[in-house]
Amino acid sequence: MKFDIQPASNPTSEKDRIAKLVDPGFGRVFTDHMAIVRYNQAKSGWYEARIEARANFQLDPAGAVLHYAQEIFEGLKAYKRDDGGVNLFRPDANARRFKDSADRMAMAQLPEDVFIEAVEQVVRIDRAWMPGGEGSLYLRPFMIASETFLGVKPSSEYIFAVIASPVGSYFKGGPAPVSIWVSENYTRAAIGGTGAVKCGGNYAASLRAQAEAIQHGCDQVVFLDAVERRYIEELGGMNIFFVFDDGSLSTPPLGTILPGITRDSIITLARDAGKTVREEPYSLEQWRKDAASGKLKEAFACGTAAVISPIGKVRSVSGDFEISGGAAGPVAMGLRKQLVDIQYGRTNDPHNWIRKV
Ligand code: PLP
Ligand code: COI
Repeated sequence: MKFDIQPASNPTSEKDRIAKLVDPGFGRVFTDHMAIVRYNQAKSGWYEARIEARANFQLDPAGAVLHYAQEIFEGLKAYKRDDGGVNLFRPDANARRFKDSADRMAMAQLPEDVFIEAVEQVVRIDRAWMPGGEGSLYLRPFMIASETFLGVKPSSEYIFAVIASPVGSYFKGGPAPVSIWVSENYTRAAIGGTGAVKCGGNYAASLRAQAEAIQHGCDQVVFLDAVERRYIEELGGMNIFFVFDDGSLSTPPLGTILPGITRDSIITLARDAGKTVREEPYSLEQWRKDAASGKLKEAFACGTAAVISPIGKVRSVSGDFEISGGAAGPVAMGLRKQLVDIQYGRTNDPHNWIRKV
């Protein structure tokens, strides 16, 4: 699909851009452009692919997304290499997951090559917004149902867009260990639900539990399974791993959790290093016992935004516990370095995960 490229007529000045890049935080600073592709069933599919100035959408108050939340999104990052080039990390995997999300939400499926082209075009036009150092350009492709209609049915019109946000660390403390709150009141996903896809509704439903986590002084919430309310599933916006005294790792199995691309990359890197990685259920009760006995050495959260963040402290209604005295563990930090080095192009990329832009 050919994108019509119309650069912003009034882009941010260099001085303002540099000031905004000093300490961008996460998701508050945005670049000058966006990609847009529209879909209309009656016009036989995707049309009008554009790169244009970032601007408000025009949406009728009866636009389907505003009522029934037919919305999906992705998150991936572009990294500045030392030679000045830019790396994308596994954008093909995001494009595939976006299609799976669209399928589950009865939305139009965007061809994977159009997804990747849109992301690359935004990176190209806004590459001056790439932060230096350990920062990156967070890319947020998303799709909304835009048909003007109040009946409950899949929309026949969609808007796909990609926006970009220069980011630093997701957590204020960078890779310092985070604390998590176990949600025993709320669940995130049930079998047959939407837990395995990246739709906005999953995040809306997680906010009450995340607020509870913050009330308890924690950085993030971790959810239990919806059936037995025993097994650890994932955090509000991250997957989770456990590291044991025999050197093995485990992570909750796929099904009701988001199939994280970072999760998959960590499984691959750990297995490459000869480690055993199990994808199996792990209960809160067992976690508490293993932390107390020393069998559990580390736990860490992982995701595009969070990279790899060690978990130091766990709080719950049934009591709090620490993992390895609340300190960052060597396995989490080693995997983090390995992953980040691949992302920034500082080391070999044995699995061809990097796409240069
Ligand atoms: N789980 C949830 C609920 C998420 O929102 C994310 C972030 O995208 C992840 C896991 C990690 O996925 P990924 O590694 O693909 O970013
Ligand atoms: C990501 O890591 O890309 C996420 O989507 C997590 C969160 C920022 C929603």
